[in-house]
Amino acid sequence: MKIAVLISGRGSNLQSLIDACNDDDFPAEISLVISNKADAYGLKRASDASIPTKVFNQKDFSTREDFDAAMSDAIEASGAEFICLAGFMRLLSDNFVKTWHDRLVNIHPSLLPAFKGLHVHEQAIERGVRFSGCTVHFVRSAMDEGPILMQAVVPVLPDDTPDSLAARVLEQEHIVYPQALRIIAERKVRVSGERAIIDGHKTPNGSLINPEK
Ligand code: GRF
Repeated sequence: MKIAVLISGRGSNLQSLIDACNDDDFPAEISLVISNKADAYGLKRASDASIPTKVFNQKDFSTREDFDAAMSDAIEASGAEFICLAGFMRLLSDNFVKTWHDRLVNIHPSLLPAFKGLHVHEQAIERGVRFSGCTVHFVRSAMDEGPILMQAVVPVLPDDTPDSLAARVLEQEHIVYPQALRIIAERKVRVSGERAIIDGHKTPNGSLINPEK
């Protein structure tokens, strides 16, 4: 399955997808990386992997709809049939989300539906939750909404800072996003209502308790 990846910055999640796609057995390949920032480090990661890149600068478009339509055309022209958002820091128009309905996923660094938006690790620490994590979800018009596909959980430690928690969560993002893309590309995922259903879904056993006894 050909996919497009949309980024705005560092691109460490993009790198995890590039690395996964480099495996001959992996069922997806990245046909295009798009950034809305010309200086995004992820663009270098893509070029180093010989993946075509395009930059869309919002100054070149008078409306969000025009910007998104140009992106959509470029994605279709690349042959991509699915989109992964990986740190793309721009709201998408309703039209774009509609065009790519159930063919558009995002990774968010919290256990959705908790802690949407920005500064998620600050929010998690302030609220004193004992676990946080990351979520891969299908994208809907409202920010950080949509059927949940996969999540990973990490403990929040008493002396965590937003940075230490972010690093622990990011490590899991890099594991989860390629796994999620694999089952998508294997066509094992379908969306029914607000739920993503996975063929052969294997559930982990037992529970995690924080704090321990
Ligand atoms: C990640 O934490 C991702 O969950 C969020 O934005 C960050 C992007 O990091 N959506 P990177 O650019 O992939 O390194």
